[in-house]
Amino acid sequence: MKIYSPHIDKRLLVGILLTGMVIFLITAAFYWQPIAALAQTTIDNLQDKLYLPIVLQNNDSPTPPPILGDYVVIGWNDLGMHCYNRDFSDLAVLPPYNTLWAQVILRGDPPKIITDTVNVSFNFPNNTYSVGKSNFWDYDLALFGVDLPDNIGLTGTGLAGWMDREGDHFVAEGIPLTEYNDNDHTTRVPYQLADLVVNDLNGAELTRNRVVAPVSTEMRCDECHSDNGPGNEGIATGIVEQNILTKHDDENMDEYPPGHKNPLMNRRPVLCAECHASNALAAPGVAGIPNLSEAVHDKHKERVPTTTDGCYKCHPGPQTQCLRDVMSGSYNMQCSDCHGNMEQVSNNPNPWLNEPRCDTCHDEAGYEQDHALYRLSKGHGGIYCEACHDSTHAVAPSTRPEDGIKFTNLQGHNGELDTCTVCHLTDPSTGGPHK
Ligand code: HEC
Ligand code: HEC
Ligand code: HEC
Ligand code: HEC
Ligand code: HEC
Ligand code: HEC
Ligand code: HEC
Repeated sequence: MKIYSPHIDKRLLVGILLTGMVIFLITAAFYWQPIAALAQTTIDNLQDKLYLPIVLQNNDSPTPPPILGDYVVIGWNDLGMHCYNRDFSDLAVLPPYNTLWAQVILRGDPPKIITDTVNVSFNFPNNTYSVGKSNFWDYDLALFGVDLPDNIGLTGTGLAGWMDREGDHFVAEGIPLTEYNDNDHTTRVPYQLADLVVNDLNGAELTRNRVVAPVSTEMRCDECHSDNGPGNEGIATGIVEQNILTKHDDENMDEYPPGHKNPLMNRRPVLCAECHASNALAAPGVAGIPNLSEAVHDKHKERVPTTTDGCYKCHPGPQTQCLRDVMSGSYNMQCSDCHGNMEQVSNNPNPWLNEPRCDTCHDEAGYEQDHALYRLSKGHGGIYCEACHDSTHAVAPSTRPEDGIKFTNLQGHNGELDTCTVCHLTDPSTGGPHK
């Protein structure tokens, strides 16, 4: 039992708990109404405690220096949000894993995308380590078969370092980032800020910018899978994750494939992708078992409403509000407007790799994607769509102030990169993105 200090005598603890309960019940008999109200407030408080207030504006960073010189760097996160489990001792859906991209442009007439003559590094000024903020490094070997050095993620990337050159861009893949700043391990800060710094090959700094790396543990499985909750009637282990595993064993043990027969409860921590394929982890799963996206969305399709609030039961979330793009902010668009309902999501033939496309709705000429995925598509002059418009779910102007920092640094105002002279030295009188 990791939650108790090994020095506390368990019998003593049980005694204290029982005495407490008896006193509570006697008092409750006398003051039923106020106690009931109090209990409800306590539950509400606890819910708030579980997901402590989040800081939406990561203000305590120094302001970066002005940017427009000979070079500009545009950076972004590949996805609009990266989730990870808040506790890995029982189960893992997703590890801490963030990915930053960047393009460096030599300003000119015409501007040039460059990679060979510069190096780009990244760091998080307020978030320099993860051990102590997540127990991932205690379970990496059991879950993923590798004993990673502290603060190093599954791809060998740390919380600061050089980005890799990949053709026309730079990338830092699989940063094991958590949602906690160094000075406070309990307040969640899901819109973490990274500095991208460009150096010439002699090490002199050319330019820098500050970009968001979104990260959250806000999966609210606990709303239904707490003790005896609607997802776990008759099951009360005291731990949400263990309730889920117990329920899963009760329902599916007979069908566990050869080589995977042991109850999940007996071999914690469990990686869901061991049996259920997940493209997010490049995990093939076991043939005949539905992929994780299908299993989870199908099983819960009657349990949550087809609204953004319904999706926020598992995707981050009522507090994090990962959907923060201009379409949700200004036009009230919901998850299902682009993804369909739970049933449609569960029928995705290729989860993570077959996703909505911008040009399905924005079908005027000039707005076509050149790749099935938005995150891999490029437009004007070989610049990635996400460089000018930002990540999916954060399409500029985002409702979160942090997302706007890099655009304001470059062009003096928030919103998609619409200022030609960020890249062109003289304003071209014709053409431009989408023309
Ligand atoms: C809105 C309530 C709700 C939320 C939120 C929720 N669940 Fe469930 N879950 C249920 C219900 C209800 C069942 C079905 C219970 C039954 O069939 O008896 C269930 C069943 C399950 C099962 C058992 C599958 C089976 O074979 O029967 C698993 C595993 C599961 N949920 C995992 C999760 C995970 C992981 C999360 C968070 C990412 C989650 N659930 C969030 C309500 C919820
Ligand atoms: C040992 C292999 C194994 C592991 C590990 C495993 N599952 Fe399953 N799961 C199964 C099998 C087998 C089924 C039944 C599939 C079927 O009904 O076709 C199942 C069914 C489910 C279902 C119900 C699907 C449905 O439509 O009824 C959900 C939800 C689910 N698993 C979620 C999870 C989650 C979440 C995890 C990680 C905590 C997980 N599973 C880990 C083997 C596994
Ligand atoms: C305006 C359309 C739109 C809305 C609204 C939207 N999405 Fe997406 N979503 C997309 C697109 C486009 C992609 C694929 C991006 C790419 O190519 O990488 C995507 C991808 C995803 C992915 C896969 C990971 C990723 O980022 O590629 C998840 C998970 C997801 N969306 C969940 C949600 C949830 C949950 C909501 C609501 C809270 C939501 N989406 C709202 C358009 C949308
Ligand atoms: C009961 C929990 C739960 C609910 C509710 C839920 N999701 Fe998910 N979703 C998950 C989990 C878990 C994954 C990760 C699957 C994996 O790792 O492959 C996921 C992955 C996804 C993905 C990426 C994989 C894919 O299928 O392309 C999309 C998109 C997505 N969800 C959209 C939605 C939308 C839209 C809603 C609301 C209509 C929603 N989800 C509601 C649990 C949920
Ligand atoms: C399901 C349809 C749908 C999808 C998919 C979609 N959009 Fe939109 N988008 C809209 C609608 C509707 C509006 C509202 C204004 C309009 O009609 O242009 C809008 C507005 C916008 C705006 C704001 C325009 C303004 O006037 O402020 C931008 C920018 C935008 N979308 C970019 C994107 C990008 C980038 C993607 C892909 C990641 C995308 N959209 C995917 C339907 C969609
Ligand atoms: C160099 C920056 C740049 C790049 C790269 C870029 N865009 Fe744009 N995009 C803009 C600007 C500026 C606007 C607003 C003016 C306009 O509509 O032409 C815009 C407008 C849009 C809109 C229209 C929203 C509306 O309804 O008004 C969509 C959709 C869009 N872009 C999608 C894309 C996609 C998809 C890609 C990649 C294939 C892409 N953009 C690449 C700068 C860019
Ligand atoms: C994010 C950087 C960026 C922004 C912002 C940008 N461009 Fe460009 N533009 C480029 C790049 C890179 C090229 C490709 C140059 C080449 O072909 O070598 C290019 C090429 C062009 C060209 C082709 C002719 C030439 O100069 O080679 C025109 C015309 C153009 N841009 C117009 C515009 C206009 C108008 C705007 C503002 C509405 C704009 N651009 C905004 C980066 C940008």
